[in-house]
Amino acid sequence: MWFDTHAHVDSKDFDEDRAEVIERAKQAGVTRFVNVGCSRGSAKRTMELVERYDFIYGTVGLHPHDAKSMTDELLEEIKGWAAHPKILAIGEIGLDFHYDYSPREVQREVYRRQIRLALDLAMPVAIHDREAHRECFDILTEEGGWANGGIYHCYSGSAEMAADILKNGFYISFSGTVTFKNADKLRRAAMAVPLDRLLIETDCPYLSPQPYRGKRNEPAHVAATGRALAELRGISHEEFAKLTWENACRAYRIQQ
Ligand code: NI
Repeated sequence: MWFDTHAHVDSKDFDEDRAEVIERAKQAGVTRFVNVGCSRGSAKRTMELVERYDFIYGTVGLHPHDAKSMTDELLEEIKGWAAHPKILAIGEIGLDFHYDYSPREVQREVYRRQIRLALDLAMPVAIHDREAHRECFDILTEEGGWANGGIYHCYSGSAEMAADILKNGFYISFSGTVTFKNADKLRRAAMAVPLDRLLIETDCPYLSPQPYRGKRNEPAHVAATGRALAELRGISHEEFAKLTWENACRAYRIQQ
């Protein structure tokens, strides 16, 4: 049994064959996944998915790419969607200084507002941090955003930063990038995360793990990342699947 902690199955990349993709996840032993509703449209589609499939859960929030589209009204909508029992966290929220699709000042402000929303709702957060390691971390600290737990998704930082995140009680999630040939730094970080705080994800349709690299990613492929990390950690695939599945339930506060 595998748990994909971060997927975008609502993406238009799946418009042709979404039902088959969801069925393939089940066949591959992915018995739960969390779909990330990270824009107004994506959040609405996520609500439909969690209503329709018992093994799909969701998060809602505004992605840093789209921070410039935040309004008071949208923040209220996010709050409304978050009240659904299958919506488990506010996310993905954070900073992306790689693409800078929204001005950095706007990204920071929208990140802060959504951390405060999560605090109001006593919900965990799912963090997107790309090339903004120090600021993502410092803003969480300034806002008291560690309080209800959360996940650093698609982790790309160092082992040292992972240690600081873990000290604050968060979980760290690795995507298919950890299977890439040139990802030694990431594998060092993955070695540094205790087995009770480690998560796996696809972030599909992006970042397919080996041996699917370059193709569209989907939840079924989370097993490839899981097997690679199990081997890195020197434990059986089955044991690693069980540990990361239980970790995901704790991180997202799902009754098992
Ligand atoms: Ni994502």
